[in-house]
Amino acid sequence: MNFDQLFKQISLEEIPDDVFTLAGKVFPVITAGKEEHYNSMTGSGGGMGLLFKKPVTWCVLRTDRYTLELILKEQTYTMSYFPDEYKKQVLFLGSKSGRDSEKMKEVELTSVQTPFGNMSFKEAGLIIECKLTQITAANPDDFYSQEAKDYLNEAYKDANDYRKYVFGEITRVWVKKNE
Ligand SMILES: Cc1cc2nc3c(=O)[nH]c(=O)nc-3n(C[C@H](O)[C@H](O)[C@H](O)COP(=O)(O)O)c2cc1C
Repeated sequence: MNFDQLFKQISLEEIPDDVFTLAGKVFPVITAGKEEHYNSMTGSGGGMGLLFKKPVTWCVLRTDRYTLELILKEQTYTMSYFPDEYKKQVLFLGSKSGRDSEKMKEVELTSVQTPFGNMSFKEAGLIIECKLTQITAANPDDFYSQEAKDYLNEAYKDANDYRKYVFGEITRVWVKKNE
């Protein structure tokens, strides 16, 4: 089945789950690239809302994520949310980097291209297409809890850089059609 047979476009207000469930329990799979070459990673936290009057998603990514490199290259990406039965696959995409593995070939999911050229998966229940609008570098001096400072410093140790806050304007939202 092609994309149009599987998914229907909905408005922002029709997004079926609340943001806390999506960000903290379902976990987004963030995918960037084109059909010839794309990469996905698992995220957690972040959310969605309005920024400068535009609907956006935001996520917090370590600078060494290969997916972030492709987001910067393409400037568009998808946030895909899967039914619970695909948790294993969602976690797998967060277990190793596509920079030095074949995880996109190994993952037991079927890729699909949206009509606008972004990549996601047929098994997703919800797909949010985003256009990169802002990447903000976190500076621990701007954070006022020790927990947040520790969180940022910990990433610095491994990646030699602080985490980035990545904002993308929501351009389209799709849900799986009832099968
Ligand atoms: C449940 C879960 C949540 C994660 N959340 C994040 C996150 O919010 N930000 C981040 O940079 N990495 C996060 N990761 C780690 C990345 O998904 C992981 O490092 C992945 O291999 C990166 O892939 P890439 O280098 O191919 O982009 C998470 C991993 C898991 C399993």
